Amino acid sequence: MKQINITAKIIVCNYNELNSAEKILIDKAKEATFKAYAPYSKFQVGAAALLANGEIVTGNNQENVAFPSGLCAERTTLFYANAQYPDHSVKSLAIAAYTNGDFLEKPISPCGACRQVILETEMRYNQAIRILLYGEKDIYIIEGINDLLPLAFGSIEAI
Ligand code: THU
Repeated sequence: MKQINITAKIIVCNYNELNSAEKILIDKAKEATFKAYAPYSKFQVGAAALLANGEIVTGNNQENVAFPSGLCAERTTLFYANAQYPDHSVKSLAIAAYTNGDFLEKPISPCGACRQVILETEMRYNQAIRILLYGEKDIYIIEGINDLLPLAFGSIEAI
């Protein structure tokens, strides 16, 4: 019998350690939280995607009284980016969450469905997406979805 151990690389830093492009992307994700439609959870999530053409596209969670009909900030943002700019890859994605009058101290991490969509976007453009997860205290930087979604389902060729 063999064992496979999977490791993930997560860089932990604070806002002052980021370069100016990263700071802008985080600021845009934070701003986007304020336009979230989250009347049920009151948990407002914002995301900002930097595209290869330099555009920054933002989005946020959009809830619905029929709960499964809502969508997370990450997917709203990536789908909008891909819909508007289908010819440009996504280089990085920043995510921030705001609730009870404050941004969270620790970052939140994308849900499973959003991870799968991030993976698809990486595969579509053959470009790893740098993920910046904002927390007031710590910021996590992940260099590609593989570190968040190991052993992913990424191909139907085997079927
Ligand atoms: N949510 C996101 O938008 N992104 C995440 O990474 C986690 C959760 C949303 C879904 C729902 O509208 C609210 O946050 C509470 O789960």
